Amino acid sequence: MKRTHTCGQLNRSHLGTPVRLSGWVHRIRDHGGVYFVDLRDRYGITQLVLNPEVSPQAHALASRLRAEYVISAWGAVVARPEGTVNTKLPTGEIEIKVDRLEILSEAKTPPFPISDDVQIGEDVRLKYRYLDLRRPYMHKNLILRHNVVLAARRYLSEEEGFIEVETPILTKSTPEGARDYLVPSRIEPGSFYALPQSPQLLKQLLMIANIDKYFQICRCFRDEDLRADRQPEFTQIDMEMSFVEQDDIFRVVEGLMRACFKAGLGLEIPTPFPRMSHADAADRYGTDKPDTRYEMLLQDVTDLVRESRYEVFRSTIEKGGVVKGIRLPGCARYSRKNTDDLAAFVSGYAVLGLSPIKVRADGFSSPLSKHFEPAVFEKLVREMGGTENDLLVLVAGPKKKVNEALGALRIRIATEERLIPEGRFDLFWVVDFPLFSYNEEEQRLDSEHHPFTSPAEADFHLLDTDPLKVRSSSYDLVLNGVEVGSGSVRIHNSEVQKKIFRLLKLTEEEIEQRFGFFTEALQYGTPPHAGIAPGLDRIIRIMAGADSIRDVIAFPKTQRASDAMSGSPSPVSDQQLRELHIKVVK
Ligand code: AMO
Repeated sequence: MKRTHTCGQLNRSHLGTPVRLSGWVHRIRDHGGVYFVDLRDRYGITQLVLNPEVSPQAHALASRLRAEYVISAWGAVVARPEGTVNTKLPTGEIEIKVDRLEILSEAKTPPFPISDDVQIGEDVRLKYRYLDLRRPYMHKNLILRHNVVLAARRYLSEEEGFIEVETPILTKSTPEGARDYLVPSRIEPGSFYALPQSPQLLKQLLMIANIDKYFQICRCFRDEDLRADRQPEFTQIDMEMSFVEQDDIFRVVEGLMRACFKAGLGLEIPTPFPRMSHADAADRYGTDKPDTRYEMLLQDVTDLVRESRYEVFRSTIEKGGVVKGIRLPGCARYSRKNTDDLAAFVSGYAVLGLSPIKVRADGFSSPLSKHFEPAVFEKLVREMGGTENDLLVLVAGPKKKVNEALGALRIRIATEERLIPEGRFDLFWVVDFPLFSYNEEEQRLDSEHHPFTSPAEADFHLLDTDPLKVRSSSYDLVLNGVEVGSGSVRIHNSEVQKKIFRLLKLTEEEIEQRFGFFTEALQYGTPPHAGIAPGLDRIIRIMAGADSIRDVIAFPKTQRASDAMSGSPSPVSDQQLRELHIKVVK
């Protein structure tokens, strides 16, 4: 045994016990010829005392120690002298009087101190990830992740009767809206496996196979533009159930989230979660993933400004557009430069300018007021809830663009003005998504979720006549303004499935070549089924209060989808390329 106890274990109840501890040198101090070493392992820190009078061997060796050396020390647990007790450490009442020391590994000077108290550039952190992971912050995040995954597995299998089934990584493309990562076949020249963007088709096949309740903590791969909440490979808690409806999925996922928050943070989160329609979310929050932790809702003032003399408003409304606004509390202090800056921000969303109204104790100041009858203007301010020191901003344009612009502005101001309460977790469902969106560039319909999502029963009849009006049976789980899960009731009839493929402008050949195995399977007795996939990394990131999902993944990729530590992706040998029948054209 390389140790009898861990560095977080010993306290006054062990006084006099002979022990052997092993770990990393966290800090070493020389106090009048006696060395004090803080020894660190996963469990904590214990103080070693190396006195030449107790052990000349240990003391002599200690003079060679540097930070991050791995050592082993034998000695006895003794009480710290009065005045030197550290109440912040669980081991702070004791220390080890060392009588023998061994250096197990020497260490180069690390590129940054192993501490949470220093700011370190992410490029260095990712290059030396194994050192970054030694820091308490990263440890805490990985342990949180472990606890949540464990709770999810337990809840789903023990309380809800799900079984975990592994699905292949080398598979066929499953469209989830991103590019595939492809793996060339050596045996079949010119053929490729695709890494799964999700196990969507496989989990539906498991329902046809009578697995009834499936889950998998699974890795998904998507070649898409990366952001703080996107990684090229990420983890889902993937689930599917037979003979269920939307409400059954909601109940199970609400229980799952309760179990995860309890295990991860010791928090009881209230269930059931509120529900919001997609249309409502867009109208009131300007996004399909609203952050409901703060107010500042979008308000439609089209009717209130209809009678104004302001040309921008009049012409927008004539063309079928809208005028909407939000109230920015306490922002009347904004300078001209500040409001110009907000105008520039919303102009990126192709809307027609931004009109500010400052509400002051002595009245309003706004370039708009001259275009209104005073009584009408006052009514506008009143209906928008403007009170002293508020800034009201109005934006005109097509409804979708106005919603997007004000939705983004709402988030920006809430962040800058620190209006977002900490330690709050707002979970809810967004429902009634449209089944399709229109892809202007390619002049065709796209699936809003994925092509296996069932149209809402009440809207089936619109599929041929007005497909953009068809609502889907899909739902999103939103947490603090982030989409943390997405799912749907699925199509379980092969003719309906083929119809959807055709509406997406897939030819019969493409349907056969890409999904033939699946549409065939649907014909062998398919139970009605539904599912969802909460995104594990995003949920843990929010629980941990981290800025990026990279902070809750042990070995993440950089923004350029590369691994800063190993240097992948990297070129391969000509021999490997020949075997794979691949020629690289630069
Ligand atoms: P969807 O594509 O919406 O649905 O993904 C489900 C959830 O996975 C997370 N997620 C990601 N997390 C990190 N990095 C990424 N690149 C990334 N992409 C997605 C999000 C998202 O809500 N098969 C369907 C689910 C279903 O219908 O059951 C699917 O994958 O939190």
